[in-house]
Amino acid sequence: MDIDTYFTDHWVEIEEDRIDRYERMFQWRESQRQQLAPALIEPGHRILDFGCGPGFLALALADMVGEEGRVYGADINARFVSDATQRATGKGNISFHHLSDHILPFDTESMDRVLAKNVLEYVPDIHATLAEMHRVLVPGGRIHVLDSDWGFVVVEPWGKAVVDRFFKAASVAFKEPHIGRKLVPLIRGAGLEVESATIEASLDTTGGGLSVLRNMRKYIGVFDTLKPEEADELIETAEQAVVDGSYLFALPQFVVTAKKPT
Ligand SMILES: C[S@@+](CC[C@H](N)C(=O)[O-])C[C@H]1O[C@@H](n2cnc3c(N)ncnc32)[C@H](O)[C@@H]1O
Repeated sequence: MDIDTYFTDHWVEIEEDRIDRYERMFQWRESQRQQLAPALIEPGHRILDFGCGPGFLALALADMVGEEGRVYGADINARFVSDATQRATGKGNISFHHLSDHILPFDTESMDRVLAKNVLEYVPDIHATLAEMHRVLVPGGRIHVLDSDWGFVVVEPWGKAVVDRFFKAASVAFKEPHIGRKLVPLIRGAGLEVESATIEASLDTTGGGLSVLRNMRKYIGVFDTLKPEEADELIETAEQAVVDGSYLFALPQFVVTAKKPT
């Protein structure tokens, strides 16, 4: 395993236990509908869901665009693409596509919307990826990006210094762990007009965020970027805090919508 390419390698090859965890983490939730609102999705739209993962969001989008529309999921993980294809059996308005680099296998000006949810932090060349998204959008079409920024995480009772150390150790899993704060200038730089940019956060006090922390613990363990005992102890502290009521987790999402000029 090469530490310099791990940010992409860990998506190309995914261990079985992570597949199970992601199936649970990436389920479609009705509360996500509100996060999609600025994209102004309509029946009949052709939508690319870039980095579609197991395909739950793409399937929800297929319901939104109806039979006159079409959704194209695309991902670098072949297992996600085949599982998602299986999951979409019988649906005529959705297909899934395997990517091997930043080139999108779609015609120029063929998409009304391009969505990218929690993906741009992993791409090897963000400028090349945004240029491809710009290419496939029709004039007047929109890109809608949701992403984290791992410098904005709150975990109690860890405190800020510990959170920073933990997420710095986990940053081997990301090409750009601070993508959230960089989205607006990057998207503008790609020639798109930013229409809205927000940060959305909810407070988790019941332990939902533990799956994110355990996932990070797994990344940290690949190169032991933090002492294993310290990393394990932190996870145990967070788990115990859920029980004693001192736990709190917040992972804000940056949501940016931008239009391709007509
Ligand atoms: C955190 S998951 C998000 C999945 C999905 N968008 C969701 O929110 O449910 C990140 C996804 O991006 C994909 N991915 C990572 N690097 C990619 C790249 N360079 N091009 C396309 N997809 C990529 C991964 O395989 C994975 O499915």
